[in-house]
Amino acid sequence: MNENKKIKVAVIGATGAVGQVFMWKLAQHPWFDVVYATASASRIGLAYSETTHWILPLEMPQEIRDIKMKEFKIKSMQEAGVQIVFSALPAGVAREAEPQLRAAGFYIFSNAAAMRYDSNVPILIPETNYEKLDLIRDQGYPKTGFVVTNANCVTTGLAMALAPLRKFGINTVSINSYQSVSGAGYPGLSSLDIQDNCIPFINGEEEKIEKEIKKILSIDPEVYAFTVRVPVMFGHLETVWLDLDKDVDVDDIEKAWKDFKIETDLPSTPEQPVVYSSEKTFPQQKYSFWGNPSGMVVYTGRLKKKKNKIGFCLMVNNIVKGAAGGSIQNAELFVKKYGLLD
Ligand SMILES: NC(=O)c1ccc[n+]([C@@H]2O[C@H](COP(=O)([O-])OP(=O)(O)OC[C@H]3O[C@@H](n4cnc5c(N)ncnc54)[C@H](OP(=O)(O)O)[C@@H]3O)[C@@H](O)[C@H]2O)c1
Repeated sequence: MNENKKIKVAVIGATGAVGQVFMWKLAQHPWFDVVYATASASRIGLAYSETTHWILPLEMPQEIRDIKMKEFKIKSMQEAGVQIVFSALPAGVAREAEPQLRAAGFYIFSNAAAMRYDSNVPILIPETNYEKLDLIRDQGYPKTGFVVTNANCVTTGLAMALAPLRKFGINTVSINSYQSVSGAGYPGLSSLDIQDNCIPFINGEEEKIEKEIKKILSIDPEVYAFTVRVPVMFGHLETVWLDLDKDVDVDDIEKAWKDFKIETDLPSTPEQPVVYSSEKTFPQQKYSFWGNPSGMVVYTGRLKKKKNKIGFCLMVNNIVKGAAGGSIQNAELFVKKYGLLD
C-alpha cells in the first residue's frame, strides 16, 4: 500500500446522525480524505461546525470543523477528484441520488435501505460475508461505479453474533430489540413521545431484520422479531433465542465468538469483533463507544441454554458499527481487495 496517497471521498448527508459519525471517523483516516460534504441545500457555503447540531459524545475533530458544505452536484464532485461516496441520506433521497452517482462512476458505500434488496447489490459486513463484495462486478465494475450497502443497524449486531454460529445450523431466530433514539436520526422522535417511555413499534424494522439476515448470512431460518424504541441515546440492545441443528453447549458458543476473526486486516476492524463477558449485567448501551476502534465491537452476554434453545444478549453501536463505521470498513475492504492504493 502506498502510505502517502489518500483517496478523495465525499460524505452526502453529512450533518445527520450517521453523517456525523462518517465525519468523525474520516477526520483522521489513514486512507481517506474528505474533500466534499453535502446536506440539504440551505446549508451550502456554511462551515461544517457552524451548521451541524453535533450529537456525538465526543469532541468534533479540528480537521472537519472548517469544511464548507457544498451543493450536491455530480460534476463538481468529479472536478474535486472524488472517487468514493459515503451516503447517509434518507432512503427516499438515496433512491434517486445513488443510481445517478453510480452511473457517473463513483464507488458508493451507503447506509440507506433504498438499494439493499437489489440482487446485484451486496449488504456487506466484512466479518460475515466479505466474498459478497464481488457482486460489484455484476453492477459493471470496473467499467462503471457501484453501490455497496450495509445492513440495518439492528441486523448488523445480530449478523455479527450469528455469523460464527452458522456451523451449528441456525433453524429459528427469535429476537427482541431495545433500540436507542439515535437510530431514528436527528431530530428524530419528539421528546414528548420517548421520554420515560418505550414504544413497541419501529416502522419496517422487523421486516428488515427478517429479510436482511437471510441475505447477509446466506441462511434461511424462521425469524421472529419484535423491535422496541427505548429512551437511550446510543446503542441497540438485543435479546436472542436460537434453535440450532446441533446439540451445542454454551461453551461451544462462547468459543465460536472468541475464535471469530476477519480474514483481512483493515483499519476499522477490531482485533476481536465479538466480545463476550459472563458478567451478570453485561452488555449495556452505555458501553456503545467502547472498543478499539471505538464503537466497532459487538458485545455479547447473558449466554444460557434451556432445553434445546440457546439464549443471549448483544449490544451494537447503531450509528458506528451499525452504520457509518461499517460503511467505512466496507470501503476499506474494497480498497484493499481491489488494490486502489497499490
Ligand atoms: N441512525 C441510525 O442508527 C442508522 C443506522 C443504519 C442506517 N441508517 C440509515 O442511514 C441514513 C441516514 O440516517 P440518519 O439517522 O443519519 O438520518 P438523519 O439524522 O435524518 O440525517 C439525514 C441526512 O440527510 C440529509 N438530507 C435529508 N434530506 C435531504 C435532501 N433532500 N437532500 C440532501 N440531503 C438531505 C440531512 O441534511 P439536513 O441536516 O440538512 O436536513 C442529513 O444530513 C438513513 O437512510 C437511515 O435509514 C441509520
